[in-house]
Amino acid sequence: MQKRSTFGSKFGAIAAAAGSAIGLGNIWRFPYVTGENGGAAFIIIYLICTIAIGLPLLLTEFSIGRFTNRNVFGAFKVLKPRSKWSLIGVLGIATAFVILSFYSVVAGWTMNFLAESVINNFAGKNSSQIQEGFGGFVASGWRPIIWSIMFIAMTAYIIISGVEKGIERYNKILMPVLLVILLILVVNSAFLSGFKDGINFLFSPDFSKINGKVVLEALGQAFFSLSLGMGTMITYGSYIRSNDNMISTAGSVALTDTIIALLAGVAIFPAVFSFGINPTSGPDLVFITLPNIFLQMPGSYFLSVLFFTLLLIAALTSSVSIMEVLAAYCTEELKMSRRRAGVLIAGVIMVISSMCCISQMPESSIRIAGMNLFDLFDTLSANYMMIFGAFLTTLFAGWFWTKSKLRGEFTSGGKYGVKIFPVYYFIVKFVSPVMISLIFLSQIGLLGF
Ligand code: PFF
Repeated sequence: MQKRSTFGSKFGAIAAAAGSAIGLGNIWRFPYVTGENGGAAFIIIYLICTIAIGLPLLLTEFSIGRFTNRNVFGAFKVLKPRSKWSLIGVLGIATAFVILSFYSVVAGWTMNFLAESVINNFAGKNSSQIQEGFGGFVASGWRPIIWSIMFIAMTAYIIISGVEKGIERYNKILMPVLLVILLILVVNSAFLSGFKDGINFLFSPDFSKINGKVVLEALGQAFFSLSLGMGTMITYGSYIRSNDNMISTAGSVALTDTIIALLAGVAIFPAVFSFGINPTSGPDLVFITLPNIFLQMPGSYFLSVLFFTLLLIAALTSSVSIMEVLAAYCTEELKMSRRRAGVLIAGVIMVISSMCCISQMPESSIRIAGMNLFDLFDTLSANYMMIFGAFLTTLFAGWFWTKSKLRGEFTSGGKYGVKIFPVYYFIVKFVSPVMISLIFLSQIGLLGF
């Protein structure tokens, strides 16, 4: 049998998994969800969810991946042959298709905004012109299609280059670049008049704003941000070397993911407050508000080029990880070559994401459950498929997998984290299934908060 790929170093594994975690979820979604849910109080709940439920699930997915050395479908086939647990794999693969299809649309917008920033197309426009420009771009249908096709091709190129020479190599270069750009933007925001208000909004909590919905949003954001519940971290875990300390790897990933989200907040909210923009303005915050904000700032040209480069890098390293879920399945289960798998997957995603773009045109009649395909895929994946996948995964690990095997993998054969294993196991067995099912029931409307 051909030797299976692994990441070549621990730093490479951390960079790749952090690259997956850090994405549009941190820089586009986190600020607007925080804005909509009242700021600091939401952030505290989000931090608790990340540490108490997200991190243990990340460790569980890594353990399953490294123990089985397989893709998400193969992993459950190895753990429980001929059982229904392989359905987690099927669900993961379906979720990967769904997320990648709308994620590459947003990434395509990002590329378009980057190109417009580079040619200085925002200069001299007022805010309604920028808003109309964005509306016209989405309504054209073909322009977002072309950009998203280019983005998918870039993602496939990295996948075809391989685990070590593609995924690990690009993440090791791009993640430090991302951090540097973000720090420049943070420093810049420290000089804005709204810095104090922005920081207050982010860090001085008003606990009266916490209710059931806020808790659920926070947990959902924690899962989305850590790429959990669909086998991405199972797949990446399968490339972690068997004697690496998995606990510190997972800890570093969760920590950097959280820090980047907070830094994105620090980069964005002072600007929002300086220019009197409503922090609750929703998903448009990045694409309509920020070009406006940048225009009113000194150095706007560089700031907007840097910001959209940052967003593009974040999107690319995450979409690579989603595509790898599919590529690992195709190469291992269907015995395809990496090149063939990459081309095939990219082709299918290009078709589905084009349909998402078409369904966003005003004259489009593609509607399911009252939503266009883009909104449907967004809601379906984050609110249902990932949460269900996370629930099944933690249920499996806590109740249907042998404890000693999980312990062996978690501690890398008794080497690391032996003392914290009981705490981790308690969370996996009891806390996580209960918490996740609460969210899920509320998402499908069976539980009202
Ligand atoms: N974690 C990514 C983000 O925050 O943008 C999104 C994501 C990547 C979700 C990979 C799921 C996944 F498998």
